[in-house]
Amino acid sequence: MISDKMQNAINEQLNAEMYSAYLYLSMSACFESQNLKGFAGWMKVQAQEEMTHAMKLYDYVHERLGRVILKAIDAPPDEWKSPLDAFKAVFAHEQKVTGLINDLMNLAIEEKDHAAKGFLQWFVDEQVEEESSADEIVQKIKMVKDMSGGLYMLDKELGQRTFTPTAKEK
Ligand code: FEO
Repeated sequence: MISDKMQNAINEQLNAEMYSAYLYLSMSACFESQNLKGFAGWMKVQAQEEMTHAMKLYDYVHERLGRVILKAIDAPPDEWKSPLDAFKAVFAHEQKVTGLINDLMNLAIEEKDHAAKGFLQWFVDEQVEEESSADEIVQKIKMVKDMSGGLYMLDKELGQRTFTPTAKEK
C-alpha cells in the first residue's frame, strides 16, 4: 500500500503532467493560429504524450490501493513571441518537471518505497529524453531561423511526428 505522503505527492505530479498537456496544447493552438501546421502537430502529439504520463500516475495510485484526487489545472499562457520562444519555454518547463520527478524519487528513497522507486525510474529516464528533444529543436530553430525558407522546412519536418503509444508509454 502507498503512504499518504507518497499518494499526495503523486497526485500533485498527476496535476503537473495534466498542466504539461494543457501547456503544449495551448502552444499547438498558438501555432495553428499562425498557420505553422507542423509545429502545431508536434505540440499536439507532445500534449497527447503528457496525457499518457498523467494516466500512468493515475493507474499506479490505484494499483497501490491509493486514492486519486484531481485538482484544478492552471490556465497556461496562450501566446509566444516566436517558435524559438515557445521551444525555449518547452525546454525550461521540462527542466522544471525533471526537478519534480527527482523530488518524487527522493521521497521514495526516503520512505524506502521500492515499488515507487521502480515505477518512478521510467519517469527519470523519460525526462532525459524530454529535455534532449526540446533542446534539439531549440538548436534547429536557431540554425534555420535566418535562412530563407528555413522555418518552412522545419515546419514540414516537425509535422512528420505522429502519436504512437509504445509499450513504455502504456
Ligand atoms: Fe511528462 Fe514532458 O514530461
